[in-house]
Amino acid sequence: MDRKGRKLVLFPLPCQGHINPMLQLANILYSKGFSISIIHTSFNCPNPSNYPHFTFHSIGEGLSESEASIHDGFAFLSLLNTKYVDPFRECLGRMLCDVSEEPVACLISDATFYFTQAVAESLKVPRIVLKTESASSFLVFAALPLLRERGYIPIQDSRLEEPVVEFPHLKVKDLPLVVTSTPEVFYQVIDSVVSETKASSGLIWNTFEELEHSELTRMRNEFPIPIFPIGPFHNASFSNSSSSSLTPEDKSCISWLNTQPHKSVIYVSFGSIADLNEAEFLEVAWGLANSNQPFLWVVRPGLVNGSEWLESLPNGFLENLNGRGNIVKWAPQQEVLAHPAVGAFWTHNGWNSTMESIREGVPMICMPRFGDQLVNARYVSQVWKVGLQLEKGLKRGYIEKTIEKLMVEKEGEEIRFRISKLKEKANLCLKQDASSYKSLESLVSHISSLG
Ligand code: UDX
Repeated sequence: MDRKGRKLVLFPLPCQGHINPMLQLANILYSKGFSISIIHTSFNCPNPSNYPHFTFHSIGEGLSESEASIHDGFAFLSLLNTKYVDPFRECLGRMLCDVSEEPVACLISDATFYFTQAVAESLKVPRIVLKTESASSFLVFAALPLLRERGYIPIQDSRLEEPVVEFPHLKVKDLPLVVTSTPEVFYQVIDSVVSETKASSGLIWNTFEELEHSELTRMRNEFPIPIFPIGPFHNASFSNSSSSSLTPEDKSCISWLNTQPHKSVIYVSFGSIADLNEAEFLEVAWGLANSNQPFLWVVRPGLVNGSEWLESLPNGFLENLNGRGNIVKWAPQQEVLAHPAVGAFWTHNGWNSTMESIREGVPMICMPRFGDQLVNARYVSQVWKVGLQLEKGLKRGYIEKTIEKLMVEKEGEEIRFRISKLKEKANLCLKQDASSYKSLESLVSHISSLG
């Protein structure tokens, strides 16, 4: 395929939940004939040797080691948006001036790197953004100033169960807030992401029209730019050499899954950022142990506050389960969800995990921790009705009952039926002339018409 004249520069945010969808998007656009260059920070860098068809450009000087490990997520995002301005401008500027290279058709930046809009404007290159969350949650983020004005925020404990009139599917407790010591930084980041997204030349989503139709329609009214829902994204293959994982994947769990009965295993993972305190960790462990279902649980080092890894589990915990439980540090998640032995996904409802579960038709147990996960979980459990949310806290007896409800009771059967239908829609929309296929075609012609 002749790729001349059609280079795209992609700039992912250096977090697992953002790198995965950006590299999946890169593969999708590569398959459409574009050449791909990735600008990336030197920390949390995807492995370039897994992508020999792309060129990688590292921007080194930015965060110091101590800054790169800041725990307050939004303070970290704000810092990223100041520290990388100069290194990014230099790198992109150099690429634009290099006459031996193909001309750049446009920059595709993670929307959370809001500083890239001003840089793109000053270098006169069009900027499109990728939003890695759901359209539903982004609409709520964009409305936070209004919801603050109307008195929903700060949230009062007495109002948690009240509906949010502006978002009929949500209760006050579902508003996508985070615990932070610097709330003004949180609002400043959200405000900048929203305004710099509105200033961009287009917005790409890992979602599909049939899933979030009314939210995408509302988005089109509120955001005066072209919107491209082209999901669900997915890995081109399950081989190690195509992975964008920042942590080695423990593939031994696939051989273990091969020994388990059809649709029996609960896969448990809370993504790359969320954490648990020790008491919560033990309730999860005992809830799983007492459920009598086989389980595969991803316990990242650092998942449990104050622990290295599994030291807070009682001695002999796994041994006493006689092979019914398997714990790994990091799993090949998409491959796991596609495995016939997996019957349910206990998730924190990060958007990637939610879409991966829908794509594979795996019903969910929802345990959102913060931010967009709260909105995603409400949609999974109450709007699409393809999961059960653990709303009454993390107690082993309640966990056990919820697992039973999903795996053996009538309600679980109905949920399984609904997610099998949603899976069909998720796969159909990618087919020729279906919604995401057409949206991708218009993205390709939009890019070609820019500049
Ligand atoms: C965060 C937010 O929570 C999410 O909503 C936002 O859209 C992106 O940033 P994270 O919490 O890590 O992401 O969750 P998620 O969006 O689910 O992304 C995790 C990714 O890591 C998924 O693609 C998942 O497949 C992958 N993963 C997770 C693995 O490959 N192996 C694992 O063991 C766990």
